Amino acid sequence: MARMGQSSEKRRLFSFFQISNIGANSLAFFAGRAGIPYGKRGKGSEVSHQLWLVSRFDPLRDECCDCPSAGHLLRLDPEVGDEQEQQLNEQTLSQRLERVAAHVPAGARLADIGSDHGYLPVALMRRGVIAAAVAGEVALTPFRSAERTVRENGFTQQVIVRLADGLAAIEPGDGITAVSLCGMGGETIRDILADGKARLSGQERLILQPNGGEQPLRQWLMENGYRICFEEVLRENRFYYEIIVAERAGPVTYTAQELYFGPLQMRVRSPAFLAKWQRMLRLKQRTLTHFTRARQAVPEDKVQEMARQTQWISELLA
Ligand SMILES: C[S@@+](CC[C@H](N)C(=O)[O-])C[C@H]1O[C@@H](n2cnc3c(N)ncnc32)[C@H](O)[C@@H]1O
Repeated sequence: MARMGQSSEKRRLFSFFQISNIGANSLAFFAGRAGIPYGKRGKGSEVSHQLWLVSRFDPLRDECCDCPSAGHLLRLDPEVGDEQEQQLNEQTLSQRLERVAAHVPAGARLADIGSDHGYLPVALMRRGVIAAAVAGEVALTPFRSAERTVRENGFTQQVIVRLADGLAAIEPGDGITAVSLCGMGGETIRDILADGKARLSGQERLILQPNGGEQPLRQWLMENGYRICFEEVLRENRFYYEIIVAERAGPVTYTAQELYFGPLQMRVRSPAFLAKWQRMLRLKQRTLTHFTRARQAVPEDKVQEMARQTQWISELLA
């Protein structure tokens, strides 16, 4: 297995070695480096999504640039075997979006923010699960793609597609009862919720699927009176994904470790959860070793934080 070298040239080679192991998705890495906007990459939502993750891979930190937990980066690990990929659309959702869909209550009026192709709301309409939906998109290309999916499936009366930033897609008359925010960094999801809080009645169920940054997202939920009622880690196409379902329930307190690992997942300890954190432990230990070698260059508080997280993970797995 390739190891990270010291020089930037070696690091570049290492990065290339890893990326060349992921087949078609490597194209998006180069697209990302070439500055091609996200919405123009990839054919299907899931492919775009994975390419988006890859394009943000930072070989220096062994993690995504905006995903501190880096759990989903198992995609880049040559030690993990291939899984079958399939064509995904509004009929065949990815396993990740299927698990999200399972938490949308029957009869809901769903706001799917960052909807991309609009697969989630249209799939739920096709199955008769939801009564109506808003598909919100901030970028023009995915917005048009969502419009097309809705039109081609004959749901223009039931699914409104809005070009809007975050929760600005929700209007008071929509009567939204569930909000999904999936496939974005946890900090982005947190910021969208914080910026658009006035658009929420507090009665909506939040179904969140962050790509990393789960800790700050859980922190926001706690500080805003949302109780986490369901959590899950799943692995698909060699990435680890987290799903967090929350409902407003008044004051709630979580410990620092619960915010880091997830209060319910810590208790359930599913095989996917344990596998994710075993991998994370190896990544953190490796990063700590790099920190030790580059002591002068890394701020002490960053080293301490990494050491603390490594300790927590070791205790969790002990
Ligand atoms: C990786 S895709 C995920 C698509 C889909 N939700 C899924 O999980 O498969 C993220 C989408 O969120 C959109 N997005 C990012 N920030 C947004 C914002 N502030 N408001 C609305 N959409 C946003 C992007 O344009 C992109 O289409």
